[in-house]
Amino acid sequence: MTSTAPTATTWGLSGLRVLVTGGATGIGGGISRALAAAGARVAAHYGRGTEAARTLETETGGAIITRAADLTSPGGPAAAVAWAIESLGGLDAVVNNAGGMVDRVPFEAIDDAFLDTVFDLNARQAVKITQAALPALTESKRASVLFVSSISARTGGSPGSSMYSASKAFLSTLTRSLARELAPRGIRVNALSPGTIDTAFHQRHSTPQKLDGTRAGLPLGRLGTPEDCAGPAIALLSPVLAGYVTGQVVEVNGGQLMA
Ligand SMILES: NC(=O)c1ccc[n+]([C@@H]2O[C@H](COP(=O)([O-])OP(=O)(O)OC[C@H]3O[C@@H](n4cnc5c(N)ncnc54)[C@H](OP(=O)(O)O)[C@@H]3O)[C@@H](O)[C@H]2O)c1
Repeated sequence: MTSTAPTATTWGLSGLRVLVTGGATGIGGGISRALAAAGARVAAHYGRGTEAARTLETETGGAIITRAADLTSPGGPAAAVAWAIESLGGLDAVVNNAGGMVDRVPFEAIDDAFLDTVFDLNARQAVKITQAALPALTESKRASVLFVSSISARTGGSPGSSMYSASKAFLSTLTRSLARELAPRGIRVNALSPGTIDTAFHQRHSTPQKLDGTRAGLPLGRLGTPEDCAGPAIALLSPVLAGYVTGQVVEVNGGQLMA
């Protein structure tokens, strides 16, 4: 019997023009590499990780192009999108991956400056990136937007991460709002919600003891990797594998949250 299962050549990812923010390191780096391996053309934005960006370009033989921008600066998001559109000759998808916790701060110690920093990094820039990309996405026949939310959007996160967790909940809700608003233009909007993924994020914000405790409670018995996130991400971006999927937040967490 001939299999009708989609293969790498029929995923609709070949030649897909994708901007991945924060696309040179960690989860974004994993998504960029998987997209390029599936035949997509990837513009990977990065922040301060120049060395990681050079490595990514070299290791992928130029299949991935990179460019720095501070997405929390006033013109940063528009500049990153303009570069991607010009370099790729248009845009079919945006992966809003850049983000971070900034710091763990007890709720009573949160001031205006910290609130602004966390929401600028996780919420405002993703809105700006997506707005800037919309005209190009509207021209595409296989358009989609993918936000990178977090398990903490649903669990509330661990102590000191209230603003980060709330800013990720903003992205999860925005996913559903935009999915409805952009569906008439044929633009799908989904989110990936990672659990505990072993990246620089946790080197900054979690102790080894905390990670050991998390690992011990995980049904799959290990922390996640960027590659664990890349598979579901490229599936959601594929017009073949996920052409009828929009407004969904897909949890990728080794069973950490099942509800
Ligand atoms: N690791 C986890 O367990 C986990 C869980 C849930 C959600 N997430 C989310 O997944 C995404 C990727 O995180 P990660 O774990 O891969 O950690 P990461 O390596 O620290 O990734 C953060 C990315 O955001 C970019 N970035 C940060 N601030 C920026 C700014 N002002 N302007 C431009 N780019 C900026 C960084 O670029 P440079 O490195 O080039 O500066 C980096 O590529 C984040 O949105 C994070 O919140 C992570």
